[in-house]
Amino acid sequence: MAWILDEYSNFHGYSPAVVTGKPIDLGGSLGRDAATGRGVMFGTEALLNEHGKSISGQRFVIQGFGNVGSWAAKLISEQGGKIVAVSGITGAFLNEHGKNKDGIDTESLLNYTKEHRGVKGFDGAHPIDANSILVKDCDIFVLCFFELRKTRD
Ligand SMILES: NC(=O)c1ccc[n+]([C@@H]2O[C@H](COP(=O)([O-])OP(=O)(O)OC[C@H]3O[C@@H](n4cnc5c(N)ncnc54)[C@H](O)[C@@H]3O)[C@@H](O)[C@H]2O)c1
Repeated sequence: MAWILDEYSNFHGYSPAVVTGKPIDLGGSLGRDAATGRGVMFGTEALLNEHGKSISGQRFVIQGFGNVGSWAAKLISEQGGKIVAVSGITGAFLNEHGKNKDGIDTESLLNYTKEHRGVKGFDGAHPIDANSILVKDCDIFVLCFFELRKTRD
């Protein structure tokens, strides 16, 4: 991105607005890691507001717990949303009842995934079949996974 900024500026004069993802010291923005997940949270809140509701008290299922999904889950939880189920490529978890009535503790799931490179083995919720996440009861389903494709057969 620094290279693109540099090349563009060679032709058009210094143009820091030309591209996102620049290094901070070249005019890049802080908070990029969280930006997309934060956008999911703001967009969801705006949609709910249009229907006279808010994130607080709604029950969410999140498919995909990478950069976008984990930030969305954390920020939605902070707004009072209840994360009832989460899936990653290595597994899925439900926590509607039982251990934690407030839903999945996204902070501990995030710490777990950083340490174990995936959600598999997380013991703060009940493991479920990954595909079943699509039919779990919820108010809002948030799709945040990254399709893995075969590059060549
Ligand atoms: N990161 C961004 O700023 C950004 C911006 C715009 C759009 N997106 C889009 O958001 C989506 C997620 O991106 P990301 O940056 O979080 O990627 P990521 O690689 O950080 O996370 C993707 C996650 O999806 C999970 N996953 C893969 N297959 C799955 C499956 N079948 N079921 C459940 N989980 C599965 C992986 O375990 C991984 O945790 C992508 O489609 C991406 O193109 C991301």
